[in-house]
Amino acid sequence: MKNKNRPLLELSNIVVEFNADHGEKIHAVSDISFAIFKGETLGLVGESGCGKSSLARAVMQLPGPASGKVTFCSKDLAQLSKKELLKIRPRFQMVFQDSVSALNPKRSVGKTIAMPLKVTGNLSKNERHTLVEKMMSKVGLDSELFNNKPHQFSGGQCQRIQIARALITEPELLICDEPVSSLDVSIQAQIINLLETMRKQYDLTMLFISHDLAVVKNISDRIAVMYLGKLCEIAPSEQLYQSCAHPYTSALFSAIPRVNHPQAFPKLQRCIGELPSPTAPPSGCRFRTRCPKVKEQCVFEEPKLYEISPGHTVACHLFQ
Ligand SMILES: Nc1ncnc2c1ncn2[C@@H]1O[C@H](COP(=O)(O)OP(=O)(O)OP(=O)(O)O)[C@@H](O)[C@H]1O
Ligand SMILES: [Mg+2]
Repeated sequence: MKNKNRPLLELSNIVVEFNADHGEKIHAVSDISFAIFKGETLGLVGESGCGKSSLARAVMQLPGPASGKVTFCSKDLAQLSKKELLKIRPRFQMVFQDSVSALNPKRSVGKTIAMPLKVTGNLSKNERHTLVEKMMSKVGLDSELFNNKPHQFSGGQCQRIQIARALITEPELLICDEPVSSLDVSIQAQIINLLETMRKQYDLTMLFISHDLAVVKNISDRIAVMYLGKLCEIAPSEQLYQSCAHPYTSALFSAIPRVNHPQAFPKLQRCIGELPSPTAPPSGCRFRTRCPKVKEQCVFEEPKLYEISPGHTVACHLFQ
């Protein structure tokens, strides 16, 4: 376990909503709070549509949350002026889920990687160029390809470009949103290894989003499980794997695909049914409509997060 004394990132009561048709609201993230401590990697898992990317974007202020507080390095990001935000931005970066749409097809790879330096920068063009070339070789890209466009690269190479762009400002926090889910299995391990190497080299604190529980286990110190916009369990990795408590976490584990599957948790819908719509989440516990252990209380009362053992927190009436 890493140094637990200093949260680098603190999320308090984060809410993210989108407008849907007919004036309805999509409740993508509903009142989520947790902290990530300096030097640790926190894995974030949950099935497709549960709000993982929405939460990540809210942290990145792309845009910020509808309500709630994102505190990075003890600074409330919503309270910062544009200038102050620009100054702190290089210190938290993100590798986006879809590497193809995350890269501007018209911009050369060198310019793409240099972008965060340009936005914040006081470096000359030559200085930027030198840093980009160095970073390209660190992430395993031939710097001769500086002027090539993204479509000339494979999926794995596009992820290397994204990683280079995210690390060029030497951030303290790196958010990785499903960094390998779109890649061939053979390439996935290479990218995970690269991220591990970079994590050590740059002393990164990471929020690592993935639906691949095997990958998350290997890379994370703690794991947070999300369900329909809510946090349902958070625990040290080993503990979660050995004795998870929330019925949803159990369902996720029982649905781990044996081989990599393009659809996250392919067996899950078969086991416990479809995910309810985030425009009208169930009352009480959001998991109750699919929970094999549901009781009457779950319909009326929302379970609060409750610590069942040191560092292991669960939101479920079975444990309260
Ligand atoms: N820009 C948007 N406009 C409207 N609805 C959105 C938008 N982005 C996300 N949503 C909706 O918000 C909910 C959460 O989506 P989100 O992409 O955050 O989930 P996710 O956990 O990242 O899923 P996945 O594992 O498929 O990446 C979904 O119902 C999604 O359709
Ligand atoms: Mg996502």
